[in-house]
Amino acid sequence: MAETRIVTIDGPAGVGKSTMAKQLARELEIPYLDTGAMFRAVAWKLGQDSWEWNESRLERALAGFEFALSGTGEDSVLSLDDTPIGDEIRTEQVGMWASNVATLPVVRTFLKKAQQSLGERFSLVAEGRDMGTVIFPDAPHKFFLDASVKERARRRFLQLKEAGRPADEAELREQIARRDHQDRNRAVAPLRPADDAVVIDTTSLNKAQVFEALLKGVRDA
Ligand code: DC
Repeated sequence: MAETRIVTIDGPAGVGKSTMAKQLARELEIPYLDTGAMFRAVAWKLGQDSWEWNESRLERALAGFEFALSGTGEDSVLSLDDTPIGDEIRTEQVGMWASNVATLPVVRTFLKKAQQSLGERFSLVAEGRDMGTVIFPDAPHKFFLDASVKERARRRFLQLKEAGRPADEAELREQIARRDHQDRNRAVAPLRPADDAVVIDTTSLNKAQVFEALLKGVRDA
């Protein structure tokens, strides 16, 4: 089988990873893999308080889950058990559930296997929290996007407003900060840039500027 090519984009909640990953994947004509959606879909399917279950109950439930990926660029479709993952997972509440299950080694081990198996079959732009550090440590192109909490909450606010789901900006700021804290401080695979990642502070950059920096990184390396 031909070698696959992996580009990793990591970073905190609301920094614009998905937008950039889709755009870059379109440019490279490969699928993008939203690993946050995998954690969200697992949390959604297991349900509230599943993060308090014991390991063997979690293991049994996870053993039945199967992810599939098709399409390229923004038309990439990630499915769980033959059903495309939809917008039901896109709330800040499910984001927090995802962050909760993401602290559990049994969940991370299961998703690591699923993510690496997709990476063996497809070239990918893979975005998440630990793509460059844990899942694809040998990826030739690694990026870490960052921005202040205030700016990320502002972007999320505008995104939700555009989608017809207005939210309270101060509340978003608080939720993002809480999720960041948990993601950065967990014992297993905490959010941090890989030593060989290109770190881009996007606080005062627009989308076109961030995309240009990513493209330059991919082309130069
Ligand atoms: O990227 P996102 O906001 O959709 O991710 C939801 C949560 O899933 C995030 O707060 C932490 C977890 N996550 C993770 O631990 N590792 C990843 N590679 C992706 C997401």
